[in-house]
Amino acid sequence: MKEYNNAIVEIENGTAVVTLNRPQALNALNDELMSEINDIFTDLNQDNSVKVIILTGAGEKSFVAGADIKEMKDLNADEGRRWAEKGETTFLKIEQCEKPVIAAINGFALGGGCEIAMACDIRIAAENAKFGQPEVGLGIIPGFGGTQRMSRLVGRGMAKYLIYTANMIKADEAYRIGLVQKVVPLASLLEEAKSLAQTIIKKSQTAVCFAKDAINRGAEMSMANAMAYEAYIFGMCFGGEDQTEGMNAFVTKAKPNFTGK
Ligand code: HXC
Repeated sequence: MKEYNNAIVEIENGTAVVTLNRPQALNALNDELMSEINDIFTDLNQDNSVKVIILTGAGEKSFVAGADIKEMKDLNADEGRRWAEKGETTFLKIEQCEKPVIAAINGFALGGGCEIAMACDIRIAAENAKFGQPEVGLGIIPGFGGTQRMSRLVGRGMAKYLIYTANMIKADEAYRIGLVQKVVPLASLLEEAKSLAQTIIKKSQTAVCFAKDAINRGAEMSMANAMAYEAYIFGMCFGGEDQTEGMNAFVTKAKPNFTGK
């Protein structure tokens, strides 16, 4: 596995754990780390040994405390736009990765930290997690997809409340509004994420990948087009071995042995 200056990638039992590792800056996203995230997700998407990816932050205090403010503070308008585009492209790569991505959120998930978590498929938060979009307090707006993904995940009203006030919310409130899917003690966060990964890995990876694609692409379409796309993807499932395996296993009362073909 490649070495990175600001991230650690470990692969075990079909799960890649990507740990963003700038604890001196609470894992804030600087330009170098953003490039590394881009490379890591390009590699993991192509790595057949990896079925599920977990994204977390180093240390107990912070998942990601946002984009690096010290690096951003002197940008001009063009540079600001390019920085937002770089983050948007990188987070799209996470969202469009052919494998499920679980965010295991330990501590602060602020600004770009909340935005990278929202680009993941499923979010598990530790009890100490805190979420927020503090950008308007810095004279900027969320620029890594936050204005769009937040609205789509929790609704426009709640997104506007969080973004206009820059208020931080705790894990239980994030769970209540549907921003995260589970809250667990910090000490068991990674184990919970790995256990969720194993639950997914036991299913047909082809079907999981198709489901991700149908959900994500469908969200960009009209209901009628999304239904047509779902039916198309549903039909595609019947071209593969996993559908035969899964349904034969049900009929013969056996356990399916999926190959992802
Ligand atoms: C750069 C950061 C940082 C950040 C923390 N640090 N967040 N450095 N960028 N986003 C650094 C601090 O400067 C400090 O280093 C060290 O990490 C520890 O942080 P402290 O502030 O001392 O810790 P604490 O008092 O516990 O406060 C934690 C905190 C606070 C509440 C999370 O650090 C904070 O408010 N951080 C900024 C959060 C934020 O506004 N994020 C949104 C950024 S804008 P030194 O060396 O100084 O001691 C964004 C835009 C995305 O994300 C879109 C862009 C296009």
